[in-house]
Amino acid sequence: MDRDALELLDYCIAHTTLEPSLLYGLERETYLKTLAPQMSSGHLQGQFLRFISKIKKPETILEIGTFTGYSAICLASGLKEGGMLHTIEVNEELETMIRKYIEIASLKNKINLHIGDAKEIIPKLNLTYDIVFIDAGKIDYAFYYDLIIDMMNPEGLIIADNVLWSGKVMKKKQNKDTSLLDAFNKKIHADERVENILLPIRDGLIIARKL
Ligand SMILES: C[S@@+](CC[C@H](N)C(=O)[O-])C[C@H]1O[C@@H](n2cnc3c(N)ncnc32)[C@H](O)[C@@H]1O
Repeated sequence: MDRDALELLDYCIAHTTLEPSLLYGLERETYLKTLAPQMSSGHLQGQFLRFISKIKKPETILEIGTFTGYSAICLASGLKEGGMLHTIEVNEELETMIRKYIEIASLKNKINLHIGDAKEIIPKLNLTYDIVFIDAGKIDYAFYYDLIIDMMNPEGLIIADNVLWSGKVMKKKQNKDTSLLDAFNKKIHADERVENILLPIRDGLIIARKL
């Protein structure tokens, strides 16, 4: 990111509602204890997800890729009374930290953490969703989309992260990950079952609304 873009980002963060102290603590611990802390949604994107969830008031949310739990806690804050967020994480070493922050956030009865491979767990859940956040392995995005599109309630939102891949999706010469993400964006854009918007928030969020 060049200097102007970084300054613009700082300005946006400075004029966005402060993150709750528990999320500040989670982000700090994520940076201290994990190898790729930049995977966490963080303040700006987390606040965006919280906004979407609070406006939508979902009953059931699915998150694919929990990491340390930042986005799960943000998305769960908009759940309807009695609602549930299911989040799936394949790395069992993260479980203790995720559960610690779910407890601090008093969300134990609203977040159901599944440890394992999302590709195996999603078909077993057999639920319908108001919001799905796709944020695990980029090569599997299209697979996840195909898996959940028929499980979306009408007006349901599918949100996928990192779809700009640091801007590489615009380039003609693309490596495998980049070309798969580019194809994923094109697949959603061409899908007549949804309307969509691609937003340049952080590394790019594409949002598809089921018609
Ligand atoms: C970008 S991080 C998620 C960040 C998190 N959603 C947030 O915004 O704070 C992606 C996570 O997906 C997990 N993951 C990768 N492949 C997975 C799979 N097949 N099933 C479940 N989780 C997976 C990784 O271990 C990693 O923790």
